[in-house]
Parts: sequence; structure tokens; C-alpha cells
Amino acid sequence: MKKECNSYITDVLIVGSGVAGLSIALQLSENFKIVILSKTSLEECSTLYAQGGIATVLDENDSTDSHIHDTLIAGSELSDKNIVEYIATNAWNCIQWLIDQGMIFDHEISSNHSFKKYHLTREGGHSHRRILHVADSTGRTLENLLINKILKYKNIQTMEYRNVIDLIFSDVVEVSRIPPRIIGAYVWNSIKKEVEIYYAKIVVLATGGASRVYKYTTNPNVSSGDGIAIAWRAGCRVANLEFIQFHPTCLFHPKVHNFLLTEALRGEGAYLCRPDGSRFMSLFDKREELAPRDIVTRAINYEMKRLKVDCMYLNISHQSDLFIRYHFPTIYNKLLKLGIDLTREPIPITPAAHYTCGGVVVDRRGRTDLDGLYAIGEVSYTGLHGANRLASNSLIECLVYGYSAAKDINECLSYISHVSKCQISIQNRRIISEKKEKFLMKKLYDLRSLMWKYVGIMRSSNELKFALNQVKDLQNIIFNQYEERLLISDILLELRNLIQVAQLIIVSALSRKESRGLHFMTDFPDMLSNAQPTFLNPNEK
Ligand code: FAD
Ligand code: SIN
Repeated sequence: MKKECNSYITDVLIVGSGVAGLSIALQLSENFKIVILSKTSLEECSTLYAQGGIATVLDENDSTDSHIHDTLIAGSELSDKNIVEYIATNAWNCIQWLIDQGMIFDHEISSNHSFKKYHLTREGGHSHRRILHVADSTGRTLENLLINKILKYKNIQTMEYRNVIDLIFSDVVEVSRIPPRIIGAYVWNSIKKEVEIYYAKIVVLATGGASRVYKYTTNPNVSSGDGIAIAWRAGCRVANLEFIQFHPTCLFHPKVHNFLLTEALRGEGAYLCRPDGSRFMSLFDKREELAPRDIVTRAINYEMKRLKVDCMYLNISHQSDLFIRYHFPTIYNKLLKLGIDLTREPIPITPAAHYTCGGVVVDRRGRTDLDGLYAIGEVSYTGLHGANRLASNSLIECLVYGYSAAKDINECLSYISHVSKCQISIQNRRIISEKKEKFLMKKLYDLRSLMWKYVGIMRSSNELKFALNQVKDLQNIIFNQYEERLLISDILLELRNLIQVAQLIIVSALSRKESRGLHFMTDFPDMLSNAQPTFLNPNEK
């Protein structure tokens, strides 16, 4: 049976309310009508939890060339140098825009208590102090600032608890039009439990990363790779999905699973140690605690496996109480509530999935392979991060691409006179029963455990092949529920996307027969001399 559903029309449909989605919305708001969709509440996203800060060159001994150099080194020769240069060169202008919006970064306190220079913190892989921040909650300040701005604009409508399912092509309605373009999206209204249709001249995916595909992650639940799966199903290429960044220091705690202990702690002197208090990083890299994340994560993983323990420790208690509480108030207070005193004792830590370096392939303007569709932020693959992302280079990438995509959309929207629209009938779906929900929750747990165990920090071809077969079995189950039995629910939609992304990660990983950056293969431990990014094309399946 088919049914009609509610439909909405706008100029630009932005899927996602993190820094990427909100910053592009603000830059388009003067001229166009914008709708921003958010899967849960407006503020729930990775941006909200960003701690360390935003990388830019401000220190008098630093230079843009040095930022470029550090980014290329972290990326293990797989970054696109032109894009690295583009982002590093445009970083300060975009931060200036943010400051104009009202963002106030921490300053140094001089002896007479006048605030002068910005306080720059340091993180792994950076050869200089380069990170602008707001104590240890940069993301919260940023997200709240942008939301407050957005809510003041009449041209911008925000819709919460709207879960985008798939994109709509113009050829659904205009058969003769070649090539087809994206004209909107099918959306699941998670509150009313019904499908809605949004038509737009331009659709922007700003849906964040896919780290929820792993059992242990620093990310919120909304980071389930939806944009990557949606774009892939629509026909876009994806790239470098084997490069999943595992952050070295996620809190290890029986009840709290995704709380990050910022790398800035190590930048300000914290060191890693074994359960007996002895340090180990010098055995792995001469930069010790400030080596790039892939190296630190593998070192922790190695020590945990060697000693057969569940965690290592991070210790900053040698710094003064005042210093720790001034620079890391969020972490200090959060840990205190859990009965742990950051100023007095080492903190138990473990690596966890943190960032998706690959994603939907875009050009310098944020355009995907499909007309009318842009992707910006963590969902995208720009070429910046290569085989490993340099700390604090993500927020800046979101801002620079928010700026370039907005510029491009501003120009091209003047050529699109009307929104293509027609009455689409969609299949009438049944909402999943409670019993089935529990079954799907179990499958979700199985998928995330599988990915952690077999597609994690260390990989092998046999383990990857095993994981791929398991994922295909899960895919058949979900296909049956979604495509054949026409069921629907948030968890089913999430699993559908996570399974798709898991498959893309494993296929990418299997195709890279070397170890580079974040991708370490025990049966291919060496780095090849002329490796290329991994591109997957849905039209060549
Ligand atoms: P997000 O901020 O994740 O926003 C994604 C949005 O998409 C959300 O609103 C979500 O609801 C929406 N969405 C997803 N799927 C759908 C769907 N199907 N339908 C509708 N909406 C959908 N980077 C740095 O540079 N510096 C840092 O200090 C830093 N610290 C970090 C700390 C933590 C704990 C984490 C998790 C990440 C950190 N990162 C940091 C990385 C950085 O925060 C993220 O890469 C960045 O915020 C991503 O922004 P985004 O706008 O692309 O996505
Ligand atoms: C952190 O604060 O350690 C996270 C920084 C980042 O992911 O860039």
C-alpha cells in the first residue's frame, strides 16, 4: 500500500547541526530559506564534546608552512598537499569569522592580570603551540554560540528528531531531465513516527562521522555514519574509510564509556604509565606522549596486551592543583563526580574510536559526485587528513569547508529558479514491535563488538575477511526487515547505515595491503613506496 505524506519546501536543506551544518547555515541565511535537520536534539553532536580546540597559526615562532608540514607528516604521505595548504591558509580567516560571531577563546593571563595574547595549547604531532581553546570545553562553547545565533534568524528553521533516511532524485519526478540531481530527502519524524518529505534546491550533508560502528568510542550515538551510507546508496564515491582514528585516552570506567581525556592534558605535561606507574612512551617514539595519535594508541594497545590488563594510566598530578583546575575544569569536575581526583592520582584510560578520516568524496567547494548535493565536515573526504588526522584539525576543516561550500552555493543558487517538487507516494511502513527492537539492539551490539575485535587498532586479512562475512549476514537480516517486510524505526535505520559503513570500512581495509598511519595490518606491516588514497565507487560494485 502507498500513502501520501507531509512535505516541506526550502532553498537549502542542511542535514546536521554540528559546527559544519550551523556555520554554513549562518553564511547562507542572508539570502536563502534554510532548514536544518537534526537526528536528536539540536546540540547533540560530536562538536558539543570537542575539548582540545582549533588549530591555527598564531605563535610568533610558528608558520603556516609548519602547520602544513605537521599535517602532512601525521597523514603519512597520503594527504592531498593542495588541500592541506588550502585549509591551513584559510584557517585564520574562518576563526576570525567565528570571533566576529562572538566566540571568545582563552587568553594568557599576564602578571598585571590584563588579557593580551590568546593562550595556545599543544597537542600530539604539532611542532608548536597552535591550539585555540576555551579551557577543556571548546566544543560546548562553540556549539552553544552557533545555536544561539541560528535561533535568531527568521530564514532558518530548525527541526529536531528528524532522521534522514535517503535522498530524492529529480528523475523520480522529471524522467527526461539528464543528469538527475538531488532535490530533497525522505525523513523519519522520530516523534510522530511518520515519514516526511523535504524538497530543496540544494542538500548539504553535515552528518558527522561513523565512530559508533565501534563498541568503544568517544563519540555520541548520533555519529552513526548516516551521511556516508546515504550518499553511497545515492551513488557517491567514498574514500579512505580504512583510516579510523582511535584516540589514545578515553576514560576507562565501568559506567562511563565515552568520556574523552583531551590530548591537551599531554600537551600540558601529563604522561602515560603502566599500572605500576612506570612510563613507556619513550620505548615507542622519541616524541613520547606527543607523538601522533596512531603511534600513541598502538603503544598503549601493545602494553595492554603484553601485560594482559584492561587499561593504562594518564598522570598529570605533578602539576599544581590551580593549573589543572584552571585549564581542565570540565574533566576535573566530571572525574570528581566519579570519585577520581585528577590533581592527585593517575586516571585509567583506554583507546577508543574517535574520528572518521575518510568519507564522501568532495571537491574544494564541498560538492559531491551528485548535482545538488554537498557534504561538509566529518562526513566528507577532502584529502586533508590522509592516513591520520592531526589533532584539532577537524573543527578547522568544518569551518573552512563551511565557508567554501557557502560561497559556491551562494553563487549557484542564483541559477536555480525553483524547487523541483511533486507528490511522491511512499510505501506504507509498519513500526517495529518492542520484541523486534530488542532483537535489533542485540544485533547492534554484535556489530559494534565485531568491528572492535576484528577491524580495530591492529588488523589482519583473515580477521577482516571473517568480519566481512559476518557483516554480510547482518545485512541480509536488515534487508529482510527494511526492504521486504517494510518495517521502520530509528534503530532499524541506524543499523541499516552502520552495517553499510562497516562493510565499506572493511572493504577499504582489505584493499590496502600495507600498514600506514591508522591502518595497521599484521600480515602487511610495511609501508608501500607509492600508496594512493582508497576510492570506492558504488557504480562499480
Ligand atoms: P557533528 O558535530 O557530529 O554533527 C553531526 C550532526 O548530524 C548532528 O546534529 C546529528 O544529529 C546530525 N545527523 C547525523 N545523522 C543524521 C540523520 N540521519 N538525519 C539527521 N541528522 C543527522 N576536533 C577538533 O578539531 N578539535 C577538538 O578538540 C576535538 N575534540 C573532540 C572531542 C570529542 C569527544 C569528539 C567526539 C570529537 C572531537 N573532535 C575534535 C572532532 C570534532 O569534534 C568533529 O569532527 C566535528 O565536531 C564534526 O562536526 P560535524 O559538524 O561534521 O558533525
Ligand atoms: C582532544 O582534545 O584530545 C581531541 C582533539 C581532536 O580530536 O582533535
